[in-house]
Amino acid sequence: MVTTLLGNPGIRRGTLTYVTDTNEINSVGVVGLGTMGAGIAEVFAKAGIKVTGVEAEQAAVTRGRDTIDKSLDKQVSRGRLDATQRDAVAAALTVTTDFDALADVDLVIEAVPERMEIKRELFTRLDKVCRPSTILATNTSSLSVTDIAQTTMRGAKVIGMHFFNPAPVMKLVEVISTVHTDPGVVDRVIALAQRLGKTVVAVGDNPGFVVNRLLLGYLNHAAKLLDANKATVEDIDAAMRTTGLPMGPLQLADVIGLDTCVEILDVIHRDSNAPRHEVANVLRDLVAQGKVGKKSGHGFYDHTQALPKAEPEIERVQAVIDELVHPHVAEAVSMADSGYASREDIDSAMKLGCGYPEGIFALIQ
Ligand code: CAA
Repeated sequence: MVTTLLGNPGIRRGTLTYVTDTNEINSVGVVGLGTMGAGIAEVFAKAGIKVTGVEAEQAAVTRGRDTIDKSLDKQVSRGRLDATQRDAVAAALTVTTDFDALADVDLVIEAVPERMEIKRELFTRLDKVCRPSTILATNTSSLSVTDIAQTTMRGAKVIGMHFFNPAPVMKLVEVISTVHTDPGVVDRVIALAQRLGKTVVAVGDNPGFVVNRLLLGYLNHAAKLLDANKATVEDIDAAMRTTGLPMGPLQLADVIGLDTCVEILDVIHRDSNAPRHEVANVLRDLVAQGKVGKKSGHGFYDHTQALPKAEPEIERVQAVIDELVHPHVAEAVSMADSGYASREDIDSAMKLGCGYPEGIFALIQ
């Protein structure tokens, strides 16, 4: 398992060869039980960690619990869990609207919508509710962990712990430390992620971190091919699947949520000012129509039906690949050159976070 601490030059650099087991985290709170929060809660509970899931309203609590129960039932029906294991996982998980239930947990992770004002308000509240030793983690996809931490009196105990969708399946966790995060807290969170069976890539606090910084420009570029009428949704996705990627970029955008994609792109674009990160018209239009991807039933695809499996012509495949792959890999090269993350960590992140079979650099042979 590769675990490195990179980024934030001047704070910590180098490869961790071991992680201590002292101060083990045995109880966690998960705030927000949408797609990511429910998946994260499931992952913790499956590792035998006591989980308290919190949502603002009872309907959302019920929906979140339902998502987890269905996911566990599916694993039983596929023979991945037996009924006794499912019951043990379910028993490790409590869901509630009562924030005070988080007072005594070892770590809280939030998975609320990707808007700074919501995250900041939540962290102010968590800082008051939780005991001083509780670690506060954010699953933000791109927002500044430093800015979120500033709303608390415990900057040393605030950290990013970024899971990938679907959280029970994808093996990567990005651990993001700020200049204020206590190195001991970083070690505890890395040890926790490893206990969940995840591989950690640890980095400093840059917009989009490793994966989203690289992935979202590529997804947006695919949407811009639609804006320019250069290819169809099906052709773009089928073309990129021929490179070995598990999903085409537009299907993946639907899985992530088009609203989330727009929010992440806006954050990255404010930092990069690059046309590549300026949100494609079709993305904004779909979001404005409420077609935010798989979770709403509609996005680039109609998810109420089986997705089409198109077989495009060879020339169209090559044209799409030529357009999309080179700038995608170029961004990875420039990230490695900047020193933010090593080539090895970038490849590890893209393999384990997005299922790139051989990493990103191998896309260009
Ligand atoms: N929850 C739980 N389990 C799930 C699941 C879900 N939502 N979706 C799939 N699975 C499980 C299936 O049950 C199956 O498990 P078993 O083998 O135990 O039966 C396994 O995953 C494989 O699923 P499928 O056979 O149905 O489908 P697949 O082989 O096509 O794999 C996939 C599905 C793993 C999602 C694969 O398509 C993939 O890797 N896609 C890329 C996903 C990706 O890039 N995610 C990251 C997005 S970026 C992000 O999340 C960061 C952010 O901040 C936005």
